[in-house]
Amino acid sequence: MAHRRLTNRRALVTGASSGIGRALAVELARRGVDLVLLARREERLAEVAKQVAAFNRRAIPIVGDVTDADARRRALDAARDELGGLDILVNNAGVAAHGRFAEASPERIRPIMEVNFFAPVELIREAIPLLRAGVQPMVVNIGSILGERGSPHKSEYSASKFALHGFSQAVRPELARLGIDVLVVAAGPTETEHFDVLLEGTAELPWGNPPRQPAEAVARTIVRAIERGRRDVVTGWRSRLLLLANRLFPGVVDRVMARYG
Ligand SMILES: NC(=O)c1ccc[n+]([C@@H]2O[C@H](COP(=O)([O-])OP(=O)(O)OC[C@H]3O[C@@H](n4cnc5c(N)ncnc54)[C@H](OP(=O)(O)O)[C@@H]3O)[C@@H](O)[C@H]2O)c1
Repeated sequence: MAHRRLTNRRALVTGASSGIGRALAVELARRGVDLVLLARREERLAEVAKQVAAFNRRAIPIVGDVTDADARRRALDAARDELGGLDILVNNAGVAAHGRFAEASPERIRPIMEVNFFAPVELIREAIPLLRAGVQPMVVNIGSILGERGSPHKSEYSASKFALHGFSQAVRPELARLGIDVLVVAAGPTETEHFDVLLEGTAELPWGNPPRQPAEAVARTIVRAIERGRRDVVTGWRSRLLLLANRLFPGVVDRVMARYG
């Protein structure tokens, strides 16, 4: 994968109205990237666009739901017509729910899979022609450490992120043939609105809340990984330690998690 300079590149960031997506949009703008920002909350997008403009970069807000094909189309059209193309697609929009699987409503899994898996997959499919014409194009999929190690009380969310990680790994060699790199971000706990907007359940988990990194620090790690042309990145040393422990001693991690089943 190629190292890339970000000056004058063009990116589309989904879920850019808060948290990691917002911080990533601002960090990319700081490095010279023009942006299309897609999310549902218009006023929030306008605030982010203002932050981007402070770096003398363009930000085109597109208000819409990432699961809606028309919203995705409008975002890609904006990249093509207003920015002249697309070099980086960041699939960041995501939702979650907490609670045991057996106690969950059967309806819980569908919206999580729609936003976290089907929407990014469809957006990649739709963006391929634009990306192929871009400069050192890259798809950045914001996954999770729970896309590498599933967690009780987050079964649907873990499944959605495993699906995204698996899809990314599978499609990476195919997209490489088209000149498009794929970066998968296994994000660790991050201080965002993620835990305030759960589809079901509360933020409190039986094992308490692990320390969360600021979204700005996570965004800087992701941007460095984009610049260095990495394939995978895990954000935060605690997350790297957890995934290492899981690889070396999966039975021990299983036993710890079993206490909270
Ligand atoms: N926070 C963490 O600890 C953590 C850990 C690992 C991975 N992640 C992942 O990081 C990504 C960003 O989450 P975050 O932590 O930054 O949470 P967040 O602050 O809640 O941000 C989520 C973003 O996604 C957007 N979004 C949600 N549903 C959408 C939809 N249907 N259509 C369009 N946009 C939608 C939201 O915007 P609107 O509401 O305005 O649409 C918002 O901008 C997610 O993929 C999440 O799974 C987070």
